[in-house]
Amino acid sequence: MTKMKVLGVAVALAVAGSAWAATVRDEPIKPIEAAQVSDAGKVELGKKLWFEPRLSMSGIISCNTCHNLSMGGTDNLKTSIGHGWKAGPVNSPTVFNSSLAIAQFWDGRAADLKEQAGGPIQADVEMNMPHTLAVGILQSIPGYVDEFKRVYGKDKIDIDMITDSIAEFEKTLVTPNSRFDKWLAGDDKALTGKELAGYTLFKDSGCVACHNGPAAGGTSFQRMGVVEPYKSSSPAEGRSAVTGVDADRFNFKVPTLRNVELTYPYFHDGEARTLEEAVDIMGRLQLGRTYSADEIGSIVAFLKTLTGELPQIAMPILPPSSNETPRPDPFK
Ligand code: HEC
Ligand code: HEC
Repeated sequence: MTKMKVLGVAVALAVAGSAWAATVRDEPIKPIEAAQVSDAGKVELGKKLWFEPRLSMSGIISCNTCHNLSMGGTDNLKTSIGHGWKAGPVNSPTVFNSSLAIAQFWDGRAADLKEQAGGPIQADVEMNMPHTLAVGILQSIPGYVDEFKRVYGKDKIDIDMITDSIAEFEKTLVTPNSRFDKWLAGDDKALTGKELAGYTLFKDSGCVACHNGPAAGGTSFQRMGVVEPYKSSSPAEGRSAVTGVDADRFNFKVPTLRNVELTYPYFHDGEARTLEEAVDIMGRLQLGRTYSADEIGSIVAFLKTLTGELPQIAMPILPPSSNETPRPDPFK
């Protein structure tokens, strides 16, 4: 964290001290700010729980299994594989910059990161672990009892503390200082001519109507297939699963395009294998526009400038189980 803070200061000084400081650009995509850490103890504890496979029935699945922080915060699978080798219905979204979104999940069924974090622990296609057992396991591990006491001031661990600390850790998973951010800050040399042409095309053709804000997405729910219908074999119905309103069928949270170069495959069903394919489909289905191969190439070149500085995370050392800790049951 200190490193990120120091970096933030360094960038601020560099901006203040250079000629391009005066030309900060006002664009529909906004810069990503470095994470502000208000409680380092919660973040450290949340990081441990993020990598903690004992929160799963099998003892081998952690949050990081499907949101691998070494791989853009995703699993790079079409749809995720969880407990018992079961395939889930949708593609794993990146957790990088997810704190910037209006809600969590493709259909927005969780209001925020804390509410979200309870879901995967008990979902049978994910970690398949009842909350009471998850709490019991942590409570049987002296290292965790001490750490929860230090951070939350209580002897008894509860699910609220677990999801709260995971959410605090996730809030640090932002990726500032992409080349696009440098360009936004006024550095004309940060983008090549082709990348800038790609951004201009992205903006002028209307992609920014949905992909805007600091995350270049995450600000609204929108229909997949505005001009032409999208055909999918995934059972996911989108926002209507939450609102019960038929008009919301096939509306999904607009995904962030930050680090999109790393988060393949694309769409809620993971059906688009490459970024070129995803851009082609977006152009036709959302905007009624068929791009040439050159145009797709320049939009893709622009999208790759959205790859930011990924946080450098030291693997946490997890406290050992005690003799009383319930053992994992991989085949349950
Ligand atoms: C088996 C794979 C798997 C595991 C394990 C898993 N997730 Fe997920 N996660 C997913 C999938 C798939 C989705 C999308 C589900 C949906 O939208 O319906 C998701 C969605 C999310 C989102 C929402 C992101 C967004 O942009 O909407 C967050 C945040 C998240 N997971 C955090 C976690 C945390 C924290 C854990 C550990 C407690 C965890 N996940 C464990 C697969 C997994
Ligand atoms: C009407 C709103 C809207 C417009 C306009 C739009 N998008 Fe999207 N975009 C979405 C939604 C919604 C999704 C998620 C769809 C899904 O998964 O089924 C998405 C997904 C994507 C993805 C895949 C991201 C991922 O992680 O899966 C890319 C890439 C993308 N859009 C690029 C573009 C480009 C380039 C344009 C302009 C040609 C564009 N979008 C225009 C709403 C929009």
